[in-house]
Parts: sequence; C-alpha cells; structure tokens
Amino acid sequence: MSPILNNLSLKEQIDISRLPAHVAIIMDGNGRWAKKRSLPRVVGHEYGVRSVRQVTEAAAEIGVKHLTLYTFSTENWNRPALEVKAIMTLLVHTIRKEVKTLNNNNIRLQTIGDIDSLPSDCRRELLEAIEITKNNSRMNLILALNYSARWDIVQATKKIAEQVKNGEVLSSEINENLFTASLNTARFPDPELLIRTSGEFRISNFLLWELAYGEFYFTDVYWPEFDKEAFYTALLDYQKRERRFGKTSEQLAPDAHV
Ligand code: IPE
Ligand code: IPE
Ligand code: MG
Repeated sequence: MSPILNNLSLKEQIDISRLPAHVAIIMDGNGRWAKKRSLPRVVGHEYGVRSVRQVTEAAAEIGVKHLTLYTFSTENWNRPALEVKAIMTLLVHTIRKEVKTLNNNNIRLQTIGDIDSLPSDCRRELLEAIEITKNNSRMNLILALNYSARWDIVQATKKIAEQVKNGEVLSSEINENLFTASLNTARFPDPELLIRTSGEFRISNFLLWELAYGEFYFTDVYWPEFDKEAFYTALLDYQKRERRFGKTSEQLAPDAHV
C-alpha cells in the first residue's frame, strides 16, 4: 500500500462508484462474545444491537442501497425458550426506540421471512415501523425474521404451482425470472456481498437462491465487536475481488469489476 493511501481513513479508501448495492450480513457470535466475558447470552444480543446501529449508519452514509440483516432464523426457534423470548423482547424494544432515527435518516424498514408466525406484539411493532418508514428512499434496512431460504423457496414454489393450477401461468413459462419474482426477496436486487462474523464458514439457510454469485467475506470478529471500521474493511476487501460470472479474466473489461 502506498504511503498516501496509508494516510487515508478506511472510509476514504472505498471507491464509492463501485459499492455493492446490496450487502447481506449473518450477524453471528453474540453468545460467544458474552461467554468470553462470563455474561449471559442475552447481554451478547443486547450489545449486538449496538453493532446493528453502527453498521446501518455506516452503510447508509457510504451509499449502500439495501442492507439485509439475518436477525432470527426459522431454526432459531429451537433455542431455549427463555433466549427466544429475550430476543423477541429486544426486537420489539429496539424497533420502538429506533424508528424515529430511521425516519430522520430517510431509511426504510422492510422484512423478509414468515412475519405472520412471530409473536403478535412483535408483528404489530414491525408492521407499524414498516408503515411509518415506507416513503423513505435512502436505504432499505431489511430484517430477515423467522426467515430461512428453504422456506422461501418452498413458498415461492407453492405460489407458482397455484398460478399454474388456476391457468394464470403455463408450466413452460416457469423460468428464473418468475421464480425470483415469487420469492420474499423479489423487491430487492441480489446481494453482491455477504458478510459473516464470528469465524464460522456456513450459510445457515440464508439467501440460498440470491447468493448464487455473491461474494463471501468472513471475519473472526464477534458481532458485538463488529463496528463501522470492520464494515469498511469488508467493503474494501470486496472491491479487490474480480467478479467473473463464469467468464475468464481476459474477457472482463477493466471497468467491469464491480
Ligand atoms: C447471533 O449470535 C444471533 C442470533 C442467531 C439470534 P448467536 O446467538 O448465534 O451467537 P453464538 O453463535 O452462539 O456465539
Ligand atoms: C445464523 O446464526 C442465524 C442468524 C444470525 C440469525 P446461527 O448462530 O443460528 O447459525 P448456526 O446455527 O451456527 O449455523
Ligand atoms: Mg451463532
């Protein structure tokens, strides 16, 4: 790295003309972060909210248009009941507390996942925040809640099967575009960058269809310690990648790396 670059902050080194439009994050490691400090797991989740705030702010400031956060997976219902309850309570409190800030910053809250099966107070708070922020246009903050990619793929398949049965769609018309349009994520472009914290190298049933050509970034940092600088570091790493989409390096134009 040149000495001049060394004097630039991480943020200043990011080429804003080559940003990913959509960043998705598997926020992992809250429990281990707490355990390391002999604290209850729930405290890890509470500190995790601070990271959500920091990363949301950083993403909006730099110009990311869609930020999807894996907040609660379908499989997470299998955790101890007390932990599940604490996460849901934290979710309700956080949304209630942050909706004004989201609005002031022109950020629109959206969700993917089976929202209907969430506890009713949770669903109510979410729907209200979604409604309040619906005209905001700077960035979509998308919470994946009671989400699993296989669930989404199955519900999309059922939707299409129903359309075929009703004669609205011919089976010969089923293609990737129709399938994409039937997913919960249809409103958003595919994420170009997936971040997973806490040193795990799994996808854990997240955006299986949408990440077909996503770039993966893994870091050992536990989610409660993931801050703005960590987010910028991930963006810089992404900008070093060459996205080939099946082609050879030679076929790519020099300015087609994003
Ligand atoms: C991520 O942290 C938060 C959720 C899955 C809700 P974890 O709670 O999975 O933390 P670890 O993986 O046990 O450290
Ligand atoms: C993935 O993390 C789900 C969320 C971050 C919400 P987990 O901690 O649940 O994933 P696994 O169980 O380690 O694969
Ligand atoms: Mg985990």
